[in-house]
Amino acid sequence: MTDTASHTFLEGNFAPVGTEVTAWDLPVRGALPPELDGTYVRNGPNPVAADPSNYHWFIGEGMLHGVRLSGGKAQWYRNRWVRSPKVAAMQGRERIPRQEGGFFPGQGNTNVVAHAGTLLALTEGSLPYRLDSEFETMCETNFGGVLPYGVNAHPKFDPVTGNMHVMSYHFLDALLGYHEIDTDGHLVRTELLATAKPVMAHDMAITSSKVVAFDLPVVFDLDMAAAGRAMPFRWDDEYVPRVGLMPRNGGAEDTVWLEVEPCYVFHPLNAYDDGDTVVVDVARHPSMFRTDLDEGEGPPVLVRWRLDPVAGTVTSELLDDRPQEFPRINERFTGMAHRFGYTAGVGVAQLGGGNDVTTSVIKHDLHTGVTQEHDMGRGRTAGEFVFVPSSEARNEDDGWLMGFVHDASTGQSELVVIDATDVTAEPVAVVELPVRVPAGFHGNWVDHSALED
Ligand SMILES: [Fe+2]
Repeated sequence: MTDTASHTFLEGNFAPVGTEVTAWDLPVRGALPPELDGTYVRNGPNPVAADPSNYHWFIGEGMLHGVRLSGGKAQWYRNRWVRSPKVAAMQGRERIPRQEGGFFPGQGNTNVVAHAGTLLALTEGSLPYRLDSEFETMCETNFGGVLPYGVNAHPKFDPVTGNMHVMSYHFLDALLGYHEIDTDGHLVRTELLATAKPVMAHDMAITSSKVVAFDLPVVFDLDMAAAGRAMPFRWDDEYVPRVGLMPRNGGAEDTVWLEVEPCYVFHPLNAYDDGDTVVVDVARHPSMFRTDLDEGEGPPVLVRWRLDPVAGTVTSELLDDRPQEFPRINERFTGMAHRFGYTAGVGVAQLGGGNDVTTSVIKHDLHTGVTQEHDMGRGRTAGEFVFVPSSEARNEDDGWLMGFVHDASTGQSELVVIDATDVTAEPVAVVELPVRVPAGFHGNWVDHSALED
């Protein structure tokens, strides 16, 4: 099968773009907050010469799309592939020097964060790439340490220390790696947590006192790997789903494992300590890659787990039964009690046919139970929206939500900025982009001060 239009994740706004573009002085509708001085940057797969017969949305080569904001203006948009080996070959450029570690050279396609003065483009199973402020790939990094499995793409930054906490997993060894990397970019700690089988651990969480590890029933399948499947993971009905709580001042041997309901979690919203209990809010999928190896079995809903490692108990509370994913918070509250969460609402009309797409931003007030939804409108799809705190923030939700929106009727893409205190209002600003931005995964707001020029 060679028809490039024969895989749903290569069609519509999932289709890759073919060129790297730089555009200056972008038109803005509304008014960008003048204090925003930095770059919104988002990662996602933009496959090179994809094989539709063996494509999976998780494996395309990474491409960053970013918009530089300063002084109330949108200075530029640019998109750049992360220069993985396949991209370097396609572009006829030198390969990025490898460092020791990682299961394979990654596509760098899942997330992009700022750390130790550079951007990091991350994909699980591999080492991150370091990129400069204009998205030029510079090197791989193992943080000066031993990372045989690389790291996954969902580091958490402790707002108190600035240190980065991240998990890794291996396709063959039944364990999860936990790693702490300091603000200078040095690996300072590794703990290895044993699991029953090699599992896909896409994300993790921290609290002030604990590391939260997800040991859930998506397991590596050797037969699928031997058959050459690009994503050799599947649901295992027999696998006991667990969440591990490792004391941050202890070691792997101190981890308390608690059984949770069968489910899969790509993304927690946040976790925090409530006495001895750990509260973890998650986007919970009923299963994943059980009958559908591309999309899994939706819908994902927002759930609160209360995990008591002393009593050995778990409670599960449905916070919102609407389909939603891509949960984010004000990350000044990472690991601490949060009141507000923001998720991407999945278009109900899309469920059960074609790709599920996210069409709204939902704000959750978890103290009052009140939610507000900003629907992007007919034919318009929204990706993950990130929270950007205002400099004068007095309340947790003082700030903005921003992310890319694609309009199928016009083919245009936009960066949309919403007042997080008034989510249902019209966006405060919309930056019109000169090219289509394909659907992608995760992004972040990177303050100008976070990157070296
Ligand atoms: Fe993710």
